[in-house]
Amino acid sequence: MTDYNEINAMLASIIEGVPYTMTNLANASALLNEKLDGINWVGFYTIKDGRLVLGPFQGKVACTLIPIGKGVCGTAVAEDKTQLVPDVHKFPGHIACDSASNSEIVVPMHRNGEIFGVLDIDSPLFNRFTNEDQSGLEEFVKVLEKSL
Ligand code: SME
Repeated sequence: MTDYNEINAMLASIIEGVPYTMTNLANASALLNEKLDGINWVGFYTIKDGRLVLGPFQGKVACTLIPIGKGVCGTAVAEDKTQLVPDVHKFPGHIACDSASNSEIVVPMHRNGEIFGVLDIDSPLFNRFTNEDQSGLEEFVKVLEKSL
């Protein structure tokens, strides 16, 4: 099982005293890529000009722009709610960036109380993400939000 207490403590120490968003998002994606098993993409989209724009990530080249309300990421923003998707092929409007992806979790991020972007993680396994992953990753985002 993934030790989110350890990962989130590591994140807190990595971002401490670093007031640069892109830097912290880059290291946050690298940390998750190192610590999570069974994933093929992990990274961030942030909101610019009313749409989601690709940010720091680890994995294959990905879709650059996602309209709010579209795909798993755009839905997470529109609903301001984590999307836990056991089978992406059953998610209406799912946007396939890497054809290897079969399950996905997307967690909204906030800055000054407003939605700022999302953390997106893809897996080649079906049902990769559990409720424990969801709460661990929501906590991860809370730690990260302090640096945004
Ligand atoms: N699958 C996402 C698109 C982003 S990629 O997974 C990196 C979606 O449906 O929003």
